[in-house]
Amino acid sequence: MEKITISKLSAAKAHRHRICMLTAYDHPFARVLDEAEVDIVLVGDSLGNVALGYRNTLPVTMTEMLVHTRAVAAAVERAMVVADMPFGSFQRGAKEALSNAIKLVKAGAEAVKIEGVFTDEIKRIIRAGIPVMGHLGFTPQSVHQLGGYRKQGKGKGSAAKMVRDAKALQKAGCFALVLEMVPDELARRISRTLRIPVIGIGAGAHCDGQVLVTSDLIGLSGWFPSFVRPKANVRKLASRAVKEFMREVRG
Ligand code: KIV
Repeated sequence: MEKITISKLSAAKAHRHRICMLTAYDHPFARVLDEAEVDIVLVGDSLGNVALGYRNTLPVTMTEMLVHTRAVAAAVERAMVVADMPFGSFQRGAKEALSNAIKLVKAGAEAVKIEGVFTDEIKRIIRAGIPVMGHLGFTPQSVHQLGGYRKQGKGKGSAAKMVRDAKALQKAGCFALVLEMVPDELARRISRTLRIPVIGIGAGAHCDGQVLVTSDLIGLSGWFPSFVRPKANVRKLASRAVKEFMREVRG
């Protein structure tokens, strides 16, 4: 078993081996992903919409992230475990950001992911020895400011700003960058410009890797974004099993 490390991810980019990242919030799914040999298991704050029934990711707390990170980390042996820093856990300054990143590492995360360009906070966390993954494009924690779930970087000015932001995150020390809902051509440009791996979601086929929310991929969510092509219908399978159980019990 070859443990996935930052240097392996960097080598994957150099050799044009595409990186696969999927989300997990609990022990059984984390085990499925790790046994299938995904490179990165993300304990995303999509936990909020996917598993906790929230409208968006904004209500997700550190306490919730810690519980789910612990469950995932206990199942994963090979993949890198990255935990999202939830809304409110890093926006109040570098000291609090570092304190929360340390809590996630103590729960088993090997790296943390931060949405937006919080370079002071990111540098402080990295200085403490914790790897940070950046996240640009559509950043769900800013959904109200961005005016809903929509592609980012469509205009010339906003595309140029995203390239500048991506370079700033690389300079701050991020080991990888997620690009969410960005035009294909801009995602290709950023992937080619940066030395660090760029992992896309709804950002076309030219990134160094792809990430999806697992429940979208396997057809467990009731709704999924238009860029997802589900590979199974687990919702239907589960419903069938439940109905069969009830038929047997009642019969
Ligand atoms: O929270 C999450 O699942 C994410 C991915 C969609 C990248 O941030």
